[in-house]
Amino acid sequence: MKNMLVTGGCGFIGANFIHYLLEESDYSGRIINVDKLTYAGNPENLAGVEERFPERYIFFKDDICDKNRMADIFDENEIDAVCHFAAESHVDRSIVSPDDFIQTNIVGTFNLLETTRERIKNIKLFHHISTDEVFGSLGIEGYFTEKTPYHPNSPYSASKAGSDHLVRAYHETYGMPVTISNCSNNYGPYQFPEKLIPLIILNALEGKPLPVYGDGKNIRDWLYVRDHCAAVWEIMKRGKIGETYNIGGNNEMENIKVVEIICDILDETAGMLPAGSRRGLITFVKDRPGHDRRYAIDASKMRDDLGWQPEESFETGIKSTIRWYIDNKKWTDHVISGEYQAWIKKHYT
Ligand code: NAD
Ligand code: TYD
Repeated sequence: MKNMLVTGGCGFIGANFIHYLLEESDYSGRIINVDKLTYAGNPENLAGVEERFPERYIFFKDDICDKNRMADIFDENEIDAVCHFAAESHVDRSIVSPDDFIQTNIVGTFNLLETTRERIKNIKLFHHISTDEVFGSLGIEGYFTEKTPYHPNSPYSASKAGSDHLVRAYHETYGMPVTISNCSNNYGPYQFPEKLIPLIILNALEGKPLPVYGDGKNIRDWLYVRDHCAAVWEIMKRGKIGETYNIGGNNEMENIKVVEIICDILDETAGMLPAGSRRGLITFVKDRPGHDRRYAIDASKMRDDLGWQPEESFETGIKSTIRWYIDNKKWTDHVISGEYQAWIKKHYT
């Protein structure tokens, strides 16, 4: 893998992955980052990378749905591996306006697969990043394994499921060398503050209401983003072609508990609010339609076949994430201005 195309590298996980590959891993090739820079993509997530790695990193602001541009980028950069993160990723947005999810997640993935298929002799690996949400919702017991049938419940998860099926079909039909990973909820630096954890951190810092959907007892399995990046790189190096891997943190928690933990850490580190603990800001709001009750990953295949295990516990991961958001106020002020505000205004007022 000398010339790796990373799609969506200016988003939350993609940017963490590029930092990880260049700064921490044993990868020695080039990274070609293609990102359309939607509201969620921010080149500041990779500030300084181009200067520090001029021979190993290049960025193209492009849309994965643009077939001609993808063909040129593959040919001009001699792409021999793909790590595909680019997607519309927020469930709430997919409920309000699903169109972009179908375009980018399904049509965009199809377009990349076709571009890859036309050059299949040059390609060592196409790794597709997906989510545990394709499996639907669990009851109080059990875990998602690689054999769990797909049962997506939101336009987001249905569009990711569609893309997963296409990737698998390209392996079966055309012999394309693919691997797929389905990961649980990530948290950490550079996450756009519309997702639960960064939203709660920022609102709690500012003394704003902390919206908790429904009864707050929905469960997610939280994984620190660096652990996800390390898992993806392990799969790319040593995973078996044609296989799927579930990645999870073994950190199941009710949403209300996550919110309370953030309140308590901030009360301790940033001081109490004049009105007392930040727990007083918790506000139960109308539930998300089709809200999946519980996600939990069985990551034993990652552990047994590839020797991967998460390094970060929720306690340590959430503390460093909170610290990051406090130390990077300029970043957060910037990302929540402009286009983000315009979108919220258009759809919610
Ligand atoms: P994100 O929304 O933060 O970033 C997505 C990136 O893709 C952005 O930089 C955006 O500009 C780019 N993009 C969107 N449409 C594009 C297009 N048409 N062409 C080129 N670039 C485009 O998302 P994220 O949280 O970093 O998620 C990355 C991937 O990981 C997604 O495929 C998502 O489904 C998957 N995933 C996310 C989580 C999570 O908890 N965030 C968990 C499991 C899997
Ligand atoms: P989110 O971060 O949007 O990730 P996902 O929907 O992909 O799991 O939400 C995580 C959980 O938190 C989910 O159960 C919905 C809930 N949630 C809230 O209770 N309040 C919020 O403001 C948000 C954004 C999410």
